[in-house]
Amino acid sequence: MHILITGGAGFIGSHLAEHLLAKEVSLALLDDHSTGQRSNLEAVLKHPRCTLHEGDVRDEALVTRAMQGADAVVHLAAAVGAELVMRSPARTLDVNVRGTEVVLETAQKEKPLVFLASSSEVYGRGVHGVQSEEDDLGFGPSTSPRWGYACSKALDEWLAFAHAREHGTRVIIGRIFNTTGPRQVGDHGMVLPRFVRAALRAEPLRVHGNGAQTRSFIHVLDTVEAIARLLECPAAVGEVVNIGRSEEISILALAKRVLGHTASRSTIEHIPAETSRREGYEDLPRRRPATAKLLRLTAFEAQRDLDRIITDCVHEQRARG
Ligand SMILES: NC(=O)c1ccc[n+]([C@@H]2O[C@H](COP(=O)([O-])OP(=O)(O)OC[C@H]3O[C@@H](n4cnc5c(N)ncnc54)[C@H](O)[C@@H]3O)[C@@H](O)[C@H]2O)c1
Repeated sequence: MHILITGGAGFIGSHLAEHLLAKEVSLALLDDHSTGQRSNLEAVLKHPRCTLHEGDVRDEALVTRAMQGADAVVHLAAAVGAELVMRSPARTLDVNVRGTEVVLETAQKEKPLVFLASSSEVYGRGVHGVQSEEDDLGFGPSTSPRWGYACSKALDEWLAFAHAREHGTRVIIGRIFNTTGPRQVGDHGMVLPRFVRAALRAEPLRVHGNGAQTRSFIHVLDTVEAIARLLECPAAVGEVVNIGRSEEISILALAKRVLGHTASRSTIEHIPAETSRREGYEDLPRRRPATAKLLRLTAFEAQRDLDRIITDCVHEQRARG
């Protein structure tokens, strides 16, 4: 089995590469190192069954070379992270939509299975309970770049299904919920690495609003296991599948849990909702995945709880210094 991972030097991509290499798969990785890092690939680049293609996923010639002989493509390359999306909204849309188009167009020739990394963000504002795959999607106004990211991921899903209908491309859509763990960086707005970094530096942990908004976190090693199982599941082809863990925690409780794990003297600082809104930030009250479909298709259930996730993040950031 030969697999191309776009965004292979990223947080999820680099863990997935290690996971797949351990299963005798051969890999091509493609990355422009915009948010991913070469250092994430230390363990895999020496491997004889792994090749790295450096460059942009919108570059058709590069993607054609990288996809040669691939049985499957895991398309992870994207502009990701709330702060990055706010800073570079036009680039976000272009990378996320054009990048997916190039992958799907190239897949017409090579005919690999295409796993597309979508996001829980596509559920938008529309659903405030548990989010399941059949729910309607619902976005906020186009004046907010935040919703541009959500729309770009939703459009990617439509593109994938359009290619499936028109060209017979085999596609699997994974709607990934808050994945976190070692190698995730806080620079682009990811909450847990940001909290851990602040706690270890005795700086305030900044919480938007009152922190009552909830999220469900899944360890990156569980996410990559779920992706690997979906790739081996013929019944998942043509399906949208949530990838997540159902335990919910409020952001305020998460901040307190991080302070407990790090024995930090940091305080918790609340950013007034009004300031967050002025910065274009909109927090959704709840994100919790329905996981029954993933379980039914792959027998997958996340194995690592929140304490393990936080412990691994703290351990990594302490080691990094
Ligand atoms: N981490 C999460 O909680 C989460 C949640 C939902 C969806 N996702 C999706 O999973 C995928 C991977 O995200 P991640 O968390 O590993 O983030 P990441 O930023 O670490 O990974 C994205 C990778 O894509 C690369 N990349 C970006 N633009 C590129 C371009 N134009 N050409 C080539 N490479 C490019 C980056 O350098 C990076 O290595 C993304 O598609 C993201 O939307 C992640």
